[in-house]
Amino acid sequence: MSAMAPEASQVLEERIRTAITAAGGTISFAQYMAMALYEPKVGYYEQTPRVVGRGGDFATSVSVGSLFGELIAHWIEKEVGALETLASGPLEIVEAGAHDGRWAEDILSALTQGSDLNRERFRYRIVEPSATRQTWQRERLARFGDRVVWSETLPTEVRGVIVSNELLDAFPVERWRWRTSQRRWVEQGVGWTGQGFDWTALPTPAPVEWELPEEVQSVLPEGFVRERSPAAVAWWEQAAMALREGCLITFDYGLEAEEFLTPGRSAGTLRAYRQHRVSDDLLSSPGEVDLTAHVDFSAIAEAGLRQGLVTWHRERQSRFLMRILESTQRNPGGFPEWNTPRVRAFQTLTHPEHFGRGFRVLVQGRGRCPWGA
Ligand SMILES: C[S@@+](CC[C@H](N)C(=O)[O-])C[C@H]1O[C@@H](n2cnc3c(N)ncnc32)[C@H](O)[C@@H]1O
Repeated sequence: MSAMAPEASQVLEERIRTAITAAGGTISFAQYMAMALYEPKVGYYEQTPRVVGRGGDFATSVSVGSLFGELIAHWIEKEVGALETLASGPLEIVEAGAHDGRWAEDILSALTQGSDLNRERFRYRIVEPSATRQTWQRERLARFGDRVVWSETLPTEVRGVIVSNELLDAFPVERWRWRTSQRRWVEQGVGWTGQGFDWTALPTPAPVEWELPEEVQSVLPEGFVRERSPAAVAWWEQAAMALREGCLITFDYGLEAEEFLTPGRSAGTLRAYRQHRVSDDLLSSPGEVDLTAHVDFSAIAEAGLRQGLVTWHRERQSRFLMRILESTQRNPGGFPEWNTPRVRAFQTLTHPEHFGRGFRVLVQGRGRCPWGA
Protein backbone atom coordinates (compact mmCIF):
# COMPACT_ATOMS: atom_id res chain seq x y z
CA MET A 1 0.00 0.00 0.00
CA SER A 2 1.25 3.42 -0.86
CA ALA A 3 0.92 4.59 2.76
CA MET A 4 3.91 2.46 3.77
CA ALA A 5 6.46 4.39 5.80
CA PRO A 6 9.67 5.00 3.80
CA GLU A 7 11.79 3.37 6.52
CA ALA A 8 9.73 0.19 6.28
CA SER A 9 10.30 -0.11 2.53
CA GLN A 10 14.02 0.47 3.05
CA VAL A 11 14.19 -2.14 5.80
CA LEU A 12 12.38 -4.62 3.57
CA GLU A 13 14.63 -3.94 0.58
CA GLU A 14 17.71 -4.40 2.74
CA ARG A 15 16.40 -7.67 4.16
CA ILE A 16 15.72 -9.02 0.67
CA ARG A 17 19.18 -7.92 -0.49
CA THR A 18 20.74 -9.65 2.53
CA ALA A 19 18.85 -12.84 1.69
CA ILE A 20 20.11 -12.60 -1.91
CA THR A 21 23.71 -12.14 -0.76
CA ALA A 22 23.42 -14.99 1.74
CA ALA A 23 22.11 -17.25 -1.05
CA GLY A 24 25.10 -16.44 -3.28
CA GLY A 25 23.48 -13.79 -5.51
CA THR A 26 20.00 -15.04 -6.28
CA ILE A 27 16.84 -16.23 -4.48
CA SER A 28 13.78 -17.86 -6.00
CA PHE A 29 10.90 -15.59 -6.92
CA ALA A 30 8.81 -17.53 -4.37
CA GLN A 31 11.19 -16.43 -1.61
CA TYR A 32 11.16 -12.85 -2.89
CA MET A 33 7.34 -12.86 -2.93
CA ALA A 34 7.12 -14.38 0.56
CA MET A 35 9.36 -11.63 1.93
CA ALA A 36 7.69 -8.81 -0.04
CA LEU A 37 4.25 -9.81 1.27
CA TYR A 38 4.86 -11.28 4.72
CA GLU A 39 8.16 -10.13 6.19
CA PRO A 40 7.19 -9.33 9.81
CA LYS A 41 6.33 -5.63 10.35
CA VAL A 42 7.55 -4.49 6.89
CA GLY A 43 5.91 -6.83 4.33
CA TYR A 44 2.94 -5.65 2.27
CA TYR A 45 0.32 -7.50 4.37
CA GLU A 46 1.88 -6.30 7.62
CA GLN A 47 1.47 -2.57 7.01
CA THR A 48 -2.18 -1.64 7.28
CA PRO A 49 -5.54 -3.43 7.11
CA ARG A 50 -6.71 -0.85 4.56
CA VAL A 51 -5.13 -2.44 1.49
CA VAL A 52 -8.46 -4.20 0.75
CA GLY A 53 -11.47 -2.15 -0.37
CA ARG A 54 -12.28 1.07 -2.12
CA GLY A 55 -9.55 3.25 -0.57
CA GLY A 56 -6.94 0.47 -0.81
CA ASP A 57 -5.23 -1.43 -3.60
CA PHE A 58 -7.84 -4.04 -4.57
CA ALA A 59 -11.43 -5.10 -3.85
CA THR A 60 -12.61 -8.53 -2.75
CA SER A 61 -16.06 -10.10 -2.40
CA VAL A 62 -15.75 -9.36 1.31
CA SER A 63 -15.14 -5.66 0.73
CA VAL A 64 -18.29 -5.45 -1.45
CA GLY A 65 -20.34 -5.51 1.77
CA SER A 66 -21.84 -7.76 4.42
CA LEU A 67 -23.94 -9.71 1.89
CA PHE A 68 -21.14 -12.15 1.02
CA GLY A 69 -20.82 -13.11 4.69
CA GLU A 70 -24.61 -13.39 5.08
CA LEU A 71 -24.83 -15.74 2.10
CA ILE A 72 -21.99 -17.91 3.38
CA ALA A 73 -23.54 -17.98 6.86
CA HIS A 74 -26.79 -19.23 5.30
CA TRP A 75 -24.86 -21.90 3.37
CA ILE A 76 -23.00 -22.98 6.52
CA GLU A 77 -26.28 -23.31 8.36
CA LYS A 78 -28.14 -25.17 5.62
CA GLU A 79 -25.43 -27.34 4.06
CA VAL A 80 -22.71 -27.82 6.65
CA GLY A 81 -24.88 -27.55 9.78
CA ALA A 82 -27.36 -30.04 8.33
CA LEU A 83 -24.77 -32.77 7.77
CA GLU A 84 -25.72 -35.93 9.60
CA THR A 85 -22.12 -36.45 10.67
CA LEU A 86 -22.18 -33.05 12.40
CA ALA A 87 -25.69 -33.35 13.85
CA SER A 88 -24.41 -33.53 17.39
CA GLY A 89 -21.45 -31.90 19.02
CA PRO A 90 -19.83 -28.58 18.24
CA LEU A 91 -19.41 -27.23 14.73
CA GLU A 92 -16.20 -25.40 14.06
CA ILE A 93 -15.89 -22.64 11.47
CA VAL A 94 -12.21 -22.12 10.69
CA GLU A 95 -11.16 -19.17 8.57
CA ALA A 96 -7.73 -18.54 7.06
CA GLY A 97 -6.66 -15.34 5.32
CA ALA A 98 -9.02 -13.33 7.53
CA HIS A 99 -6.94 -10.16 7.08
CA ASP A 100 -8.81 -7.46 9.08
CA GLY A 101 -11.58 -9.82 10.27
CA ARG A 102 -14.31 -8.28 8.14
CA TRP A 103 -15.69 -11.55 6.73
CA ALA A 104 -15.59 -13.16 10.17
CA GLU A 105 -17.60 -10.23 11.51
CA ASP A 106 -20.20 -10.56 8.74
CA ILE A 107 -20.52 -14.33 9.10
CA LEU A 108 -20.65 -14.19 12.90
CA SER A 109 -23.21 -11.35 12.90
CA ALA A 110 -25.46 -13.34 10.56
CA LEU A 111 -25.09 -16.56 12.53
CA THR A 112 -25.67 -14.98 15.92
CA GLN A 113 -28.58 -12.75 14.84
CA GLY A 114 -30.81 -14.43 12.33
CA SER A 115 -29.95 -18.04 11.82
CA ASP A 116 -31.52 -21.17 13.25
CA LEU A 117 -28.11 -22.62 13.96
CA ASN A 118 -27.99 -23.36 17.64
CA ARG A 119 -25.85 -20.57 19.04
CA GLU A 120 -24.20 -22.82 21.54
CA ARG A 121 -23.12 -25.20 18.83
CA PHE A 122 -20.55 -23.29 16.83
CA ARG A 123 -17.21 -21.70 17.42
CA TYR A 124 -15.16 -19.53 15.05
CA ARG A 125 -11.42 -20.06 14.76
CA ILE A 126 -9.12 -17.77 12.81
CA VAL A 127 -5.85 -19.23 11.61
CA GLU A 128 -3.48 -16.30 11.55
CA PRO A 129 0.31 -16.64 11.56
CA SER A 130 0.90 -12.88 11.81
CA ALA A 131 0.83 -11.18 15.22
CA THR A 132 0.06 -7.85 13.52
CA ARG A 133 -3.00 -9.11 11.69
CA GLN A 134 -4.23 -10.96 14.78
CA THR A 135 -4.29 -7.61 16.57
CA TRP A 136 -6.46 -6.04 13.83
CA GLN A 137 -8.82 -9.03 13.97
CA ARG A 138 -9.08 -9.08 17.79
CA GLU A 139 -10.03 -5.41 17.80
CA ARG A 140 -12.78 -5.86 15.23
CA LEU A 141 -14.19 -9.03 16.75
CA ALA A 142 -13.98 -8.14 20.45
CA ARG A 143 -17.77 -8.07 20.85
CA PHE A 144 -18.04 -11.79 20.02
CA GLY A 145 -16.03 -12.66 23.13
CA ASP A 146 -14.76 -16.20 23.47
CA ARG A 147 -16.83 -17.49 20.55
CA VAL A 148 -13.80 -16.53 18.43
CA VAL A 149 -10.43 -18.15 19.02
CA TRP A 150 -7.11 -17.83 17.21
CA SER A 151 -4.25 -20.08 16.27
CA GLU A 152 -1.10 -19.49 14.26
CA THR A 153 -1.37 -22.73 12.31
CA LEU A 154 -4.17 -25.00 11.13
CA PRO A 155 -5.58 -27.20 13.88
CA THR A 156 -4.90 -30.92 13.50
CA GLU A 157 -8.59 -31.91 13.73
CA VAL A 158 -11.61 -30.02 12.42
CA ARG A 159 -15.30 -30.97 12.54
CA GLY A 160 -17.11 -28.33 10.54
CA VAL A 161 -15.93 -26.07 7.74
CA ILE A 162 -12.64 -24.40 6.77
CA VAL A 163 -13.43 -21.22 4.83
CA SER A 164 -11.24 -18.83 2.84
CA ASN A 165 -11.66 -16.02 0.35
CA GLU A 166 -8.72 -14.98 -1.79
CA LEU A 167 -6.29 -16.84 0.42
CA LEU A 168 -4.70 -19.20 -2.10
CA ASP A 169 -3.86 -16.44 -4.61
CA ALA A 170 -1.77 -14.78 -1.88
CA PHE A 171 0.60 -17.73 -1.41
CA PRO A 172 4.09 -17.33 -2.89
CA VAL A 173 4.52 -18.79 -6.37
CA GLU A 174 7.47 -20.03 -8.39
CA ARG A 175 7.83 -18.38 -11.78
CA TRP A 176 9.09 -20.35 -14.78
CA ARG A 177 9.92 -19.33 -18.37
CA TRP A 178 10.02 -21.54 -21.44
CA ARG A 179 13.36 -21.51 -23.24
CA THR A 180 12.91 -22.69 -26.82
CA SER A 181 16.63 -23.20 -27.51
CA GLN A 182 16.84 -25.75 -24.68
CA ARG A 183 13.24 -26.90 -24.88
CA ARG A 184 12.81 -26.66 -21.14
CA TRP A 185 11.29 -24.60 -18.34
CA VAL A 186 13.75 -22.41 -16.44
CA GLU A 187 12.89 -21.21 -12.95
CA GLN A 188 13.28 -17.49 -12.46
CA GLY A 189 15.17 -16.15 -9.51
CA VAL A 190 15.71 -12.62 -8.27
CA GLY A 191 19.06 -10.89 -7.93
CA TRP A 192 20.29 -7.37 -7.15
CA THR A 193 21.95 -5.34 -9.89
CA GLY A 194 23.23 -2.52 -7.69
CA GLN A 195 20.31 -0.32 -8.79
CA GLY A 196 17.36 -2.61 -8.33
CA PHE A 197 16.03 -6.17 -8.27
CA ASP A 198 16.24 -8.11 -11.51
CA TRP A 199 15.43 -11.52 -12.91
CA THR A 200 18.03 -14.28 -12.94
CA ALA A 201 17.90 -17.95 -13.98
CA LEU A 202 17.96 -20.80 -11.47
CA PRO A 203 19.31 -24.29 -12.21
CA THR A 204 16.28 -26.05 -10.62
CA PRO A 205 14.84 -28.98 -12.60
CA ALA A 206 11.28 -28.38 -13.81
CA PRO A 207 8.35 -30.24 -12.24
CA VAL A 208 8.05 -33.67 -13.91
CA GLU A 209 4.33 -33.19 -14.50
CA TRP A 210 5.17 -30.22 -16.74
CA GLU A 211 6.87 -32.37 -19.36
CA LEU A 212 5.23 -31.37 -22.63
CA PRO A 213 4.37 -33.48 -25.66
CA GLU A 214 6.59 -32.82 -28.69
CA GLU A 215 3.79 -31.03 -30.60
CA VAL A 216 3.36 -28.50 -27.76
CA GLN A 217 7.11 -28.01 -27.26
CA SER A 218 7.52 -27.11 -30.90
CA VAL A 219 4.95 -24.29 -30.80
CA LEU A 220 5.41 -22.85 -27.32
CA PRO A 221 6.97 -19.39 -27.85
CA GLU A 222 10.22 -18.24 -26.25
CA GLY A 223 9.61 -16.71 -22.82
CA PHE A 224 6.17 -18.24 -22.21
CA VAL A 225 5.62 -17.83 -18.46
CA ARG A 226 3.99 -20.25 -16.08
CA GLU A 227 3.67 -20.16 -12.30
CA ARG A 228 2.93 -22.73 -9.66
CA SER A 229 2.37 -22.55 -5.94
CA PRO A 230 3.48 -25.67 -4.04
CA ALA A 231 2.78 -23.67 -0.84
CA ALA A 232 -0.91 -23.21 -1.72
CA VAL A 233 -1.27 -26.90 -2.64
CA ALA A 234 0.45 -27.94 0.60
CA TRP A 235 -1.85 -25.67 2.63
CA TRP A 236 -4.99 -27.19 1.08
CA GLU A 237 -3.66 -30.71 1.57
CA GLN A 238 -2.92 -29.99 5.21
CA ALA A 239 -6.43 -28.55 5.68
CA ALA A 240 -7.88 -31.67 4.02
CA MET A 241 -5.83 -33.87 6.31
CA ALA A 242 -7.17 -32.02 9.36
CA LEU A 243 -10.79 -32.32 8.29
CA ARG A 244 -12.58 -35.10 10.21
CA GLU A 245 -16.16 -34.20 9.20
CA GLY A 246 -17.53 -31.40 7.04
CA CYS A 247 -15.81 -29.57 4.21
CA LEU A 248 -13.31 -27.02 2.94
CA ILE A 249 -14.51 -24.08 0.85
CA THR A 250 -12.44 -21.51 -0.99
CA PHE A 251 -13.32 -18.63 -3.32
CA ASP A 252 -10.71 -17.19 -5.65
CA TYR A 253 -9.78 -16.24 -9.17
CA GLY A 254 -8.09 -19.09 -10.92
CA LEU A 255 -7.94 -21.54 -13.78
CA GLU A 256 -7.89 -25.26 -14.46
CA ALA A 257 -4.40 -26.64 -15.28
CA GLU A 258 -4.92 -26.72 -19.06
CA GLU A 259 -6.14 -23.09 -19.14
CA PHE A 260 -2.67 -21.82 -18.13
CA LEU A 261 -1.07 -23.12 -21.34
CA THR A 262 -3.04 -20.99 -23.79
CA PRO A 263 -1.80 -18.16 -26.07
CA GLY A 264 -3.58 -15.48 -24.03
CA ARG A 265 -1.61 -16.48 -20.92
CA SER A 266 1.90 -16.26 -22.38
CA ALA A 267 2.93 -13.65 -19.79
CA GLY A 268 1.67 -15.83 -16.92
CA THR A 269 -0.86 -14.63 -14.36
CA LEU A 270 1.38 -12.98 -11.77
CA ARG A 271 0.53 -9.31 -11.32
CA ALA A 272 1.27 -6.40 -9.00
CA TYR A 273 -1.62 -4.28 -7.69
CA ARG A 274 -1.53 -0.79 -6.33
CA GLN A 275 -4.52 1.53 -5.90
CA HIS A 276 -6.73 -0.65 -8.10
CA ARG A 277 -4.23 -0.52 -10.98
CA VAL A 278 -2.59 -3.62 -12.29
CA SER A 279 1.03 -3.78 -13.36
CA ASP A 280 3.41 -6.36 -14.86
CA ASP A 281 6.34 -4.73 -13.08
CA LEU A 282 6.74 -7.36 -10.38
CA LEU A 283 10.09 -6.39 -8.87
CA SER A 284 9.61 -2.68 -8.17
CA SER A 285 8.52 -1.34 -4.79
CA PRO A 286 8.43 -4.55 -2.72
CA GLY A 287 6.15 -4.08 0.28
CA GLU A 288 4.21 -1.33 -1.45
CA VAL A 289 2.35 -3.46 -3.99
CA ASP A 290 0.28 -6.60 -3.73
CA LEU A 291 1.67 -9.56 -5.68
CA THR A 292 -0.80 -12.24 -6.67
CA ALA A 293 -1.26 -15.07 -9.19
CA HIS A 294 -4.21 -17.12 -10.41
CA VAL A 295 -4.93 -20.26 -8.43
CA ASP A 296 -4.41 -23.60 -10.19
CA PHE A 297 -7.71 -25.20 -9.17
CA SER A 298 -6.75 -28.55 -10.73
CA ALA A 299 -3.69 -28.85 -8.49
CA ILE A 300 -5.67 -27.73 -5.43
CA ALA A 301 -8.54 -30.15 -6.08
CA GLU A 302 -6.11 -33.04 -6.62
CA ALA A 303 -4.54 -32.32 -3.22
CA GLY A 304 -7.97 -32.69 -1.57
CA LEU A 305 -8.70 -35.90 -3.46
CA ARG A 306 -5.35 -37.33 -2.32
CA GLN A 307 -6.59 -36.91 1.25
CA GLY A 308 -9.82 -38.74 0.53
CA LEU A 309 -12.10 -35.72 0.10
CA VAL A 310 -14.95 -35.64 -2.40
CA THR A 311 -15.51 -32.58 -4.61
CA TRP A 312 -18.92 -31.15 -3.71
CA HIS A 313 -18.85 -27.95 -5.79
CA ARG A 314 -16.34 -26.71 -8.36
CA GLU A 315 -17.92 -23.90 -10.32
CA ARG A 316 -18.15 -20.18 -10.87
CA GLN A 317 -18.78 -18.05 -7.79
CA SER A 318 -21.87 -16.60 -9.53
CA ARG A 319 -23.55 -19.99 -9.91
CA PHE A 320 -22.80 -21.04 -6.35
CA LEU A 321 -24.11 -17.78 -4.87
CA MET A 322 -27.20 -18.03 -7.06
CA ARG A 323 -27.87 -21.42 -5.52
CA ILE A 324 -27.54 -19.97 -2.02
CA LEU A 325 -29.90 -17.15 -3.05
CA GLU A 326 -32.48 -19.74 -4.13
CA SER A 327 -32.09 -21.49 -0.80
CA THR A 328 -32.68 -18.21 1.08
CA GLN A 329 -35.88 -17.80 -0.92
CA ARG A 330 -37.08 -21.28 0.04
CA ASN A 331 -36.08 -20.69 3.71
CA PRO A 332 -36.42 -16.93 4.22
CA GLY A 333 -36.48 -17.09 8.04
CA GLY A 334 -33.73 -14.93 9.47
CA PHE A 335 -32.22 -13.84 6.14
CA PRO A 336 -32.07 -10.01 6.00
CA GLU A 337 -34.55 -8.10 3.80
CA TRP A 338 -33.44 -7.23 0.28
CA ASN A 339 -32.98 -3.51 -0.28
CA THR A 340 -31.33 -1.61 -3.15
CA PRO A 341 -27.73 -1.68 -1.79
CA ARG A 342 -27.99 -5.42 -1.09
CA VAL A 343 -29.39 -6.16 -4.55
CA ARG A 344 -26.52 -4.14 -6.03
CA ALA A 345 -24.03 -6.03 -3.90
CA PHE A 346 -25.44 -9.33 -5.19
CA GLN A 347 -25.04 -8.08 -8.76
CA THR A 348 -21.41 -7.13 -8.08
CA LEU A 349 -20.69 -10.57 -6.59
CA THR A 350 -22.20 -12.40 -9.58
CA HIS A 351 -21.92 -10.12 -12.63
CA PRO A 352 -19.39 -11.30 -15.25
CA GLU A 353 -17.72 -7.88 -15.30
CA HIS A 354 -17.16 -7.95 -11.55
CA PHE A 355 -16.73 -11.11 -9.46
CA GLY A 356 -18.96 -13.37 -11.57
CA ARG A 357 -16.68 -14.66 -14.32
CA GLY A 358 -13.13 -14.96 -13.07
CA PHE A 359 -14.01 -16.07 -9.56
CA ARG A 360 -14.60 -19.71 -8.76
CA VAL A 361 -15.46 -21.76 -5.74
CA LEU A 362 -14.11 -25.14 -4.71
CA VAL A 363 -15.83 -27.15 -1.98
CA GLN A 364 -14.46 -30.53 -0.98
CA GLY A 365 -15.84 -32.59 1.88
CA ARG A 366 -15.81 -35.89 3.69
CA GLY A 367 -18.45 -38.18 2.22
CA ARG A 368 -21.30 -37.46 -0.13
CA CYS A 369 -22.32 -33.92 -1.10
CA PRO A 370 -25.47 -33.12 0.90
CA TRP A 371 -26.76 -30.35 -1.37
CA GLY A 372 -26.50 -31.87 -4.83
CA ALA A 373 -23.85 -30.54 -7.18
C1 LIG B 1 -5.97 -11.13 -0.68
S1 LIG B 1 -6.05 -11.03 1.07
C2 LIG B 1 -7.76 -11.50 1.31
C3 LIG B 1 -8.35 -10.96 2.57
C4 LIG B 1 -9.80 -11.35 2.87
N1 LIG B 1 -9.97 -12.79 2.95
C5 LIG B 1 -10.74 -10.79 1.83
O1 LIG B 1 -11.26 -11.56 1.02
O2 LIG B 1 -10.96 -9.56 1.81
C6 LIG B 1 -5.15 -12.47 1.55
C7 LIG B 1 -4.92 -12.60 3.04
O3 LIG B 1 -4.41 -13.92 3.32
C8 LIG B 1 -3.41 -13.80 4.31
N2 LIG B 1 -2.58 -15.02 4.33
C9 LIG B 1 -1.62 -15.37 3.46
N3 LIG B 1 -1.09 -16.57 3.79
C10 LIG B 1 -1.75 -17.00 4.90
C11 LIG B 1 -1.68 -18.18 5.70
N4 LIG B 1 -0.81 -19.16 5.46
N5 LIG B 1 -2.53 -18.29 6.75
C12 LIG B 1 -3.42 -17.32 7.02
N6 LIG B 1 -3.52 -16.17 6.30
C13 LIG B 1 -2.70 -16.02 5.24
C14 LIG B 1 -2.72 -12.52 3.91
O4 LIG B 1 -1.95 -11.99 4.95
C15 LIG B 1 -3.91 -11.62 3.59
O5 LIG B 1 -4.39 -11.01 4.76
